[in-house]
Amino acid sequence: MMERVQRVNIAVQPRSYEVWIESGLLTRAGAHLRELFAGRHHLFVVTNPAVRRKWGKKLMSALAASGFEAKFVEMSDGERYKRLTTIELLAEKLSRLGADRNVVLVAFGGGVVGDVAGLLASLYMRGVDVIQVPTTVLAQVDASIGGKTGVNLPAGKNLLGTFHQPRAVLIDPAVLSTLPEREFRSGLYEALKCGVIGNAELFHQFEQNKDKILKRDPAALEWVIAESVKLKASVVSADEKENGLRRLLNFGHTIGHALEAETGYRGLLHGEAVAWGMIAAAHIAEITGKTDPATAERIQGAVLGLGSLPPLEIRSRNILQRLQADKKTRDGVVHLVLPRQIGKVEVATDVPEDSIRQALHEIRRLSHL
Ligand SMILES: NC(=O)c1ccc[n+]([C@@H]2O[C@H](COP(=O)([O-])OP(=O)(O)OC[C@H]3O[C@@H](n4cnc5c(N)ncnc54)[C@H](O)[C@@H]3O)[C@@H](O)[C@H]2O)c1
Ligand SMILES: [Zn+2]
Repeated sequence: MMERVQRVNIAVQPRSYEVWIESGLLTRAGAHLRELFAGRHHLFVVTNPAVRRKWGKKLMSALAASGFEAKFVEMSDGERYKRLTTIELLAEKLSRLGADRNVVLVAFGGGVVGDVAGLLASLYMRGVDVIQVPTTVLAQVDASIGGKTGVNLPAGKNLLGTFHQPRAVLIDPAVLSTLPEREFRSGLYEALKCGVIGNAELFHQFEQNKDKILKRDPAALEWVIAESVKLKASVVSADEKENGLRRLLNFGHTIGHALEAETGYRGLLHGEAVAWGMIAAAHIAEITGKTDPATAERIQGAVLGLGSLPPLEIRSRNILQRLQADKKTRDGVVHLVLPRQIGKVEVATDVPEDSIRQALHEIRRLSHL
């Protein structure tokens, strides 16, 4: 069969790496890893029981076929296991299984597994290689790329972490076929976000071909994911360690994070919170004259076009307070990424509180229609 894998380069220090995207790639994972790790044989696949049951066999046979000896090291499923204790448990398993500094870890799962395995790889024996094999939309378009790793503390999410770039990222959109509907759609909002930030054609596909995307048509899905990856790759390559450009990826996230925190990280999935955040940002941009009503309308239409979102039971005052508190931990001003056109956003620091209040009122109203 002709290889039609898309390769996207991530240009970071100390060495750049590639993201490979292709529907069905899992069955060829071993061959690709052979190119990277010629003399090495031992792989440890960090995963959880849900992902292992659905896709573990396929990955393992592909690895074995290329002469790798691979073993699973499992963590429990769920955000609440994204904790330092899990790192210690996994590290103990690795050492019992004889993993030395030449091992390669394979992060096989959603963003939780990716963040945990990434942190584990950066700490185990002062750092070993890791390959990301993301299995959720969110992890494929976002979490697996850029080298951020982390675990949560009771005081907040991702408070412990490192930058540890993977040696490669292998993305197989076919594994998304088993993803629960809500998780699937939640990840799509991050892909739509990439369209608004810097790829008008990607955004347009969400308007024109959303039925195919929602039905998980392999070609449509592969295209949407590859375009989102390219957008993130260009931002990460230009600005590896945050701040400037990378901030643009936060479109929908300032208000989204406040919504997530306000609802106690229950009720809204991350992508759903970002979806409401994007609609709010579109309204703020319209109110403050940064964009025209038609653009704001298109953003709202594309977000809501992907299906209904959970209703918001929130008080504007509390959200505004959270934005204020957030601002103290940054550099004293609320940063909001606002759309100017489809494919072009900018960071605004001069947003009047009343426009945020109006936007919050609007998303609450929309959520109860
Ligand atoms: N490192 C980064 O740059 C970055 C960026 C964004 C988000 N994140 C992190 O990502 C995490 C969220 O990731 P997520 O949304 O992927 O959640 P997740 O990892 O919890 O996965 C969601 C659920 O889907 C299941 N699952 C995974 N793949 C599946 C498949 N193919 N079929 C069926 N079920 C499958 C998982 O077992 C889990 O129950 C958060 O902890 C967040 O902080 C990290
Ligand atoms: Zn996000």
